[in-house]
Amino acid sequence: MQIQNNFSLKKYNTFGIEAKAKQFVAVHSVEELKQILATHKTEAKFILGGGSNMLLTQDINALVIHIDLKGKKIIKEDNDYVWVESQAGEVWHEFVLWSIDHNLGGLENMSLIPGNVGTTPVQNIGAYGTEIKDTFVSCNTVDIATQELVTFTKAECKFGYRESIFKQEAKDKYVITSVVFKLTKRNHKINTAYGDITKELEKNNIVTPNLKEVSNAVIAIRKSKLPDPKELGNSGSFFKNPIIPKELYEKAHAQFPDMPHYVVSETEVKVPAGWLIEQAGFKGKRFGDAGIHKNQALVLVNYGNATGQEIFAVSKDIQATVLNKFGIAIEAEVNVI
Ligand code: EPU
Repeated sequence: MQIQNNFSLKKYNTFGIEAKAKQFVAVHSVEELKQILATHKTEAKFILGGGSNMLLTQDINALVIHIDLKGKKIIKEDNDYVWVESQAGEVWHEFVLWSIDHNLGGLENMSLIPGNVGTTPVQNIGAYGTEIKDTFVSCNTVDIATQELVTFTKAECKFGYRESIFKQEAKDKYVITSVVFKLTKRNHKINTAYGDITKELEKNNIVTPNLKEVSNAVIAIRKSKLPDPKELGNSGSFFKNPIIPKELYEKAHAQFPDMPHYVVSETEVKVPAGWLIEQAGFKGKRFGDAGIHKNQALVLVNYGNATGQEIFAVSKDIQATVLNKFGIAIEAEVNVI
């Protein structure tokens, strides 16, 4: 374990922002993690996973601990299910492909989401009608203050739409070191209800898709709409889709009859932020090296040398314009540091 000073984080965040860590260390085992936490008790610490859900607007004046724990294994199985434990530093998409190669079902709709396994529970990642909570069993963590090992069950994680306990009361208190998923061995619950998947499968004349075909359809849709962070810096959806009271929706809808919505409960609806941002005129716009993606208005992009501050300023401009036009507040999904 080598601690490096004044370390560039450009390669460690998918926005590709140049920012420096005062100190940086990568840990490759739970033992190494516990040791570094125990020997740096009083210093400020910053836990870094895949760097796919953060916008760095400044240097990090702390010890950055990069979680580089690798490995995945089947820990239990019965006739219908297997329980798989993946270490936190595994690349999410590679883990999804591994599960499909082993004919294990449940993760296929979440193909190609950037980031590492260890950060997936934090915001309960999801796509195309599936969320991590649907297959999640538990996650193992290390308590930052005491170095004790603590397991969180699904109920304890308090999952919601892009929400969990790790964004609330457990924030900055634990490091997730591994995640256990329960996946199907047979009778896979193929979920193609999300409109775009059905269309994509129909294009290829697939009527009863297998796991691989669903995954390939998701990959094709994502590639057509979402930029590859290796080619264009980004952090996926920058904003959450706002969940608003029905009355507010009805008021906005009366003025903007094309506004799409999904019913969440009897009193609330969810409105696609991408639609609001597009209608507010931002889709495809560029301000210096910061911009809004041309195919998906929810995604902010770095054309090369944008600073975090510049991207943050664009996000503020979008929020103010959307609020002004529709009376709807949109919140960042990405962690602004
Ligand atoms: N829309 C627009 N303009 C846009 C983008 C979207 O009008 O520029 C409209 C679409 O026409 C559609 C609606 O918004 O009516 C929803 O669009 P889409 O199906 O593309 O999904 P989304 O709500 O924009 C969410 C997730 C994505 C996830 C997709 C698919 C959030 C914040 N985002 O996006 O997640 O891939 O659904 O399930 O919930 C991510 O979190 O990084 C991410 C990419």
